[in-house]
Formats: sequence, C-alpha cells, structure tokens
Amino acid sequence: MKHSKIIKPVNAAYTIYKFDSLGSTNTFLKKECVNLQNFSVVWTEEQAEGKGRFSRKWNSAVGKDLTFSVLLPLAKLQQSNWPNVTQIAALAIAEILEEYELHASIKWPNDVLVNQKKICGILCETVERDKKYYAILGIGLNVNSTREMLSQIDIPATSLFNESNITIPRDELLIKLLDKIMLFFNELAQNGFASFRKKIKQRLAYLNEEKAVVDGEKRYTGQILDINPDGTLLFKCNDGTEISLHSGELSFGLL
Ligand code: BTN
Repeated sequence: MKHSKIIKPVNAAYTIYKFDSLGSTNTFLKKECVNLQNFSVVWTEEQAEGKGRFSRKWNSAVGKDLTFSVLLPLAKLQQSNWPNVTQIAALAIAEILEEYELHASIKWPNDVLVNQKKICGILCETVERDKKYYAILGIGLNVNSTREMLSQIDIPATSLFNESNITIPRDELLIKLLDKIMLFFNELAQNGFASFRKKIKQRLAYLNEEKAVVDGEKRYTGQILDINPDGTLLFKCNDGTEISLHSGELSFGLL
C-alpha cells in the first residue's frame, strides 16, 4: 500500500492510513480489507472516483475536505443492527459538528445537513471476505470548501468553513469523528440501537413535514412520524396508511 503517512492516536483502536490520491476509499478498502486490521481507516486527499449512493459521483475539493472510509467488523453486531451503522455514524458526525457551533440535522439515513444544506454524505457498504462480514463506512464531509467550490455541486451544499468562516484543521477533526464513531459502534455492539433512537429523532430533518418519498419503484406522499425501535422510518401516507421505510433505495423528492 502506497500510503503517505500512518496516524495512530494513543489508546485508539484504529489506525489511519493517509493517501495523497486514490480512486475511492470505499473501493480501496473493499479490495484490501483482508490485509488490514479491523477499524483501519483510509483517508485520501484526492479521490478521483468518489462514489455516492445511487451510483452518483462524490466530488470533494482536493486538500480541503475529508474523504475517508472505516473498516468495521460486523461480527461484533447483532445482524439486526447492521442497517443502523449508517445512522449512528450520521449521529456521531452531527454531534461533533456541535463542537464547532453548528447545528446539524440528519436526513435519514445517510446525510447530515446544516441550515438545510448537505454538509456530509455517508456510503456504507457490506462486504464478505473469507466468511467474515465487514461494513465499509465511507464518509465525505465538506470541511474547508469555499462557497465557489460548493456552488459547483448540483444540490444545496455547505461546509464547516462556509458556515463559520473558520479554516478547520482536518486531522484534528478526523480524530474527533473517529473517536465518536468508535464509541457509538461499541455502544451499538453492546446495547443495540435503543439509546440512539431518541437522539436521532431529535435531529431528524423533515419530521412531520409534507414530503414525497421514493422507495425503489414506489413513491409515497405523506409525513415522517417517527424512527421505529429498529431504526426504520415510520411514515404516514396521505391515504392514512402507516408504513416502515428501510434505507436501501430511499430518497426524498419533490411533492
Ligand atoms: C452520498 O451522499 O451519496 C454518499 C457519499 C459518500 C462519499 C464518501 S467519500 C469517502 C467514501 N469513498 C467513496 O467513494 N465514497 C465515500
């Protein structure tokens, strides 16, 4: 592996492998997971083929933002908690953003928003290697992107710098994020999803608002009522039926 630097914070369960340039940190970890220890983190300055959900591209400003992936051993979790990894990561990121005096909401299940604009996207992929299952938790966080850079993104987007006018040291921020993600992952492993449910609901974007939601081939209009105990989304359709939405192919659209 041609990484440029290794960062191993004292007492941390994780090791960060820093690269100058990679295609995609998720794709790289998928290939290399058998050669790496659990909780390895791959961070790159430049990502030429960054991937988002629904086969979209993830573009981030070289040397300005954070693009990284974490290798999480799913054997530590009940299988019913596997889909919750994305949600606890979104909560971890939102809570760390508060330390920078930004109030973040969670656009269930994968995005973190500040002032209704996307600041972070999460792509969590499950892989099996030699009968072991891993979550590859990929995170793209806009840190020091300027307004000009953000305006090139095709949806309303923001960055920590854009919101606060302060240039943020990314290595410090990355360690804060990873510490929180590890803490939440261990909590999920030990006690399940229950303690996260209320905290995620408090930050849920679009709660009780009229919305259209696309779930694979289906489209519903109605309102988000709650997060269910298993982390799925309780949605009340305008015809009065209540449905639980799973994260797979979900996106919120125009009414
Ligand atoms: C989304 O908003 O659709 C998810 C975007 C996820 C982007 C991150 S950047 C690090 C990791 N590597 C990738 O190729 N994608 C994720």
